[in-house]
Amino acid sequence: MTASIILGTGSYTPDKIITNDDMSKIVDTSDEWIKTRTGIRQRRFAADNETTSDMALQAASKAILNAGIEKNSIDCIIFATMTPDMPFPSSACILQHKMGLPNVTAFDIQAACSGFIYALNLANTMILSKQYKTILIIGAEKLSSILDFEDRTTCVLFGDGASAAILTESNDSNIGILHTDTGADGETPELLHQPAGGSAIPPSIDSLNNRLHFLKMNGKEIFKKAVRVMGQSCVKSLEACNLTSEDIDLVIPHQANMRIIESLAKRLEIPLDKFHNNLDLYGNTSAASIGIALDEAIQANRIKKGDRILLVAFGAGLTWGSQIIQW
Ligand code: UT7
Repeated sequence: MTASIILGTGSYTPDKIITNDDMSKIVDTSDEWIKTRTGIRQRRFAADNETTSDMALQAASKAILNAGIEKNSIDCIIFATMTPDMPFPSSACILQHKMGLPNVTAFDIQAACSGFIYALNLANTMILSKQYKTILIIGAEKLSSILDFEDRTTCVLFGDGASAAILTESNDSNIGILHTDTGADGETPELLHQPAGGSAIPPSIDSLNNRLHFLKMNGKEIFKKAVRVMGQSCVKSLEACNLTSEDIDLVIPHQANMRIIESLAKRLEIPLDKFHNNLDLYGNTSAASIGIALDEAIQANRIKKGDRILLVAFGAGLTWGSQIIQW
């Protein structure tokens, strides 16, 4: 039986650091409020001429290097983002050209902050179906391009960045992705959305004047749902693998709010020091967040052969997912 394993990861965050004090010069906020309510100390913003696919290219190059593969062995690119370079063509196709991989299958998926887990799950099933062998997964966002810098309830929370992973087939079915649980609930899209720019509200003077092209969020509602649903999803994945919380060596949670992560740790009865967090440095980078944290944990030698890793995310849609990987 074949399994799929992560051969290598890579990540990239832009040079420009924006501290909480910098944000307090733009909106009525403070370092104290942002730190205590979210855990964020700073975030990175891409340069004006730096696109989501530019950041993805940097992350992909590092992942290829770390995986020790020839880029030509990649036979598919799955790009998770909610801030593509443009509505179409896909950022995956733009990246494919930048990487010099002509004719390789390439497409975007949109599952907001759950995008990296959705992409890993999709790539895993594509590899198990034996139609593809080596898939490049990207989670990348230029969220600064859709933030409303007149809305203090959202603009202080998000940052830009990119992450990549190379997933490939392995004959050892005891390692690799053991289980993924994903789900979605489309009943309340308005809890976290970008209202205009699509077919529902095409760009117009009105949509611009009403600031409808920016990200809008009901943080309180999202917070409550995130804690509950992430916990439930993790329990489902653990049960599917016949594992308990104690069998998990490291959790890589979506980096949205330290208080969400603390509540999750309590619910799962997994000590907080088994969570890898970097929210303080990058804020919420949506689809990029889990991949950046995973890459960071690997580079910091926090993940060793034989470890069981739990990934978990929640985001717009609403979407969620959890995944257990045997390293
Ligand atoms: O990645 C996808 C998922 N996203 C998330 O998981 C985000 C989930 N939500 C959250 O992380 C939190 O709900 C927030 C960080 C967004 C907000 O924290 P909160 O503790 O729920 O605060 P709140 O919305 O209840 O606001 C409390 C107060 C309000 O003032 P009043 O009405 O009590 O006078 C806000 O106006 O804090 C005020 N406030 C701020 N004050 C200073 C809101 N934003 C700010 C700000 N600076 N940036």
